[in-house]
Amino acid sequence: PADLPLAGRHILITAGPTHEPIDPVRFIANRSSGKQGFAIAAAAARAGARVSLVAGPVHLPTPAGVDRIDVETAREMLAAVEAALPADAAIMVAAVADWRTADAAGQKLKKDGSGQPAPLVLTENPDILATLGHHVQRPALLVGFAAETEKVADHARAKLARKGADWIVANDVSGDVMGGDANAVHIVTADGIDTWPSMAKADVADRLIEKVAHALASRSH
Ligand code: C5P
Repeated sequence: PADLPLAGRHILITAGPTHEPIDPVRFIANRSSGKQGFAIAAAAARAGARVSLVAGPVHLPTPAGVDRIDVETAREMLAAVEAALPADAAIMVAAVADWRTADAAGQKLKKDGSGQPAPLVLTENPDILATLGHHVQRPALLVGFAAETEKVADHARAKLARKGADWIVANDVSGDVMGGDANAVHIVTADGIDTWPSMAKADVADRLIEKVAHALASRSH
């Protein structure tokens, strides 16, 4: 309905980990469950937005009213994100693998009997958030996440500038946030830091989407 806060808006969201192949049966990944990103996609859809959710490999159902694009690697995620542009706002929640193997093996790597492990040569993945931050089709509002285990606010502030984002949602993952249902976040913007109490990921999502709707409404349509 036209009276919902995000009616007529396109919101682009990434969520989950990426998997970077080592060989046909092995990959590099991380502990992201995708829960927070999926909760944000659900909240955006409830708020009336058209939602594109680019999801890494996760075991989660697609939220109602969300257009889901499944990907595996960081490079696939970047391609899917760029294909989904333009968007009014992009919220990059995915825990993208920083590195991939320089050259994934076509066949399963074998122990060769020498006792020497197979060398793993890594190369850096594209930074999807930073790419959007400097894109010709940069969304009007660009939000990144920062999972940190220490100096959470300091690292988030540095990340804002480096990535060209408007907001960084920083969370302390030194506890059991990853895979858990609750999250305590700080919203770092050019104007300062807004610290929210620990709450369910679904409530973080609703509150963040409310803030996104408010920010978009105060800019031009
Ligand atoms: O640099 P760091 O990985 O801590 O930054 C986290 C933020 O950047 C998140 O919003 C994440 O989705 C995004 N990111 C990305 N592409 C990468 C690495 C991180 O979009 N290759």
